Amino acid sequence: MKAQQPIGLFDSGIGGTSIWKEVVKLLPNENTIYLADSKNAPYGEKSSEEIIALSVKNTEFLLSKGCKLIIVACNTATTNAIDYLRKNYPIPFIGIEPAIKPAALLSKTGAIGILATKGTLSSKLFEKTTKEYTKNMTTIEQDGEGLVPLIEEGKLNSPEINSLLSIYLKPMLKFNIDHLVLGCTHYPYLIPQIKKIIGENVTIIDSGEAVARQTKAVLEKHNLLSNSTTKSHHQFYTNAETKVLKEILSDVSIEFKVEKLDF
Ligand code: DGL
Repeated sequence: MKAQQPIGLFDSGIGGTSIWKEVVKLLPNENTIYLADSKNAPYGEKSSEEIIALSVKNTEFLLSKGCKLIIVACNTATTNAIDYLRKNYPIPFIGIEPAIKPAALLSKTGAIGILATKGTLSSKLFEKTTKEYTKNMTTIEQDGEGLVPLIEEGKLNSPEINSLLSIYLKPMLKFNIDHLVLGCTHYPYLIPQIKKIIGENVTIIDSGEAVARQTKAVLEKHNLLSNSTTKSHHQFYTNAETKVLKEILSDVSIEFKVEKLDF
């Protein structure tokens, strides 16, 4: 494996771009390939077996493009499939899971909210982490059903999204939560809308920056950190229309390419 080879990222769709943005900020010399499996979104409503099969398909694709490391930029795929991927492929994998530990450690009221997909909330890894870090705490788990499909349609600031967020988040406030964990990489795109509902006293925690730092540490450990001084190359592949993906990347100042592929 060579340091100039790209970092691969995949998600059930466009949400993992919230992770990609943190990765390229911290690691500007790296080349990246991002796979948006939007055709199969949402993963959160699928069985563990289906999520593993899709994660394998995405991994095989990124390996065929020569990726040196893969970031599973999806909580649902990480919590259901990362053990399988690590056992079956000889490259490093970085995962993302709901940041329960920091929320639990920082909470003063002893109550935290977690908004994630059904697939994440019902996973064994999620159950293990929650048990380990939230003893004697109140944790309000909420399935964000319906949010991912609306984000995939580009309806970020729509009445539908705002009404679902109200239904999901307002009851958490009654439990006096002081931290809200965003356990899905699509949700950071809803932060302005979420803030309007939960107000200033609840801190939102998402894991994008932590994933970027962890990626850097793992690349260093494997001697795979790129020190190339030539302009880095960023390629996005989607199996849906490119419009919404391009919209979500419209705040990015570096150059990238987007291509629609049937995978
Ligand atoms: N971005 C994915 C996650 O982090 C969304 C899952 C889905 O497709 O339901 O969980």
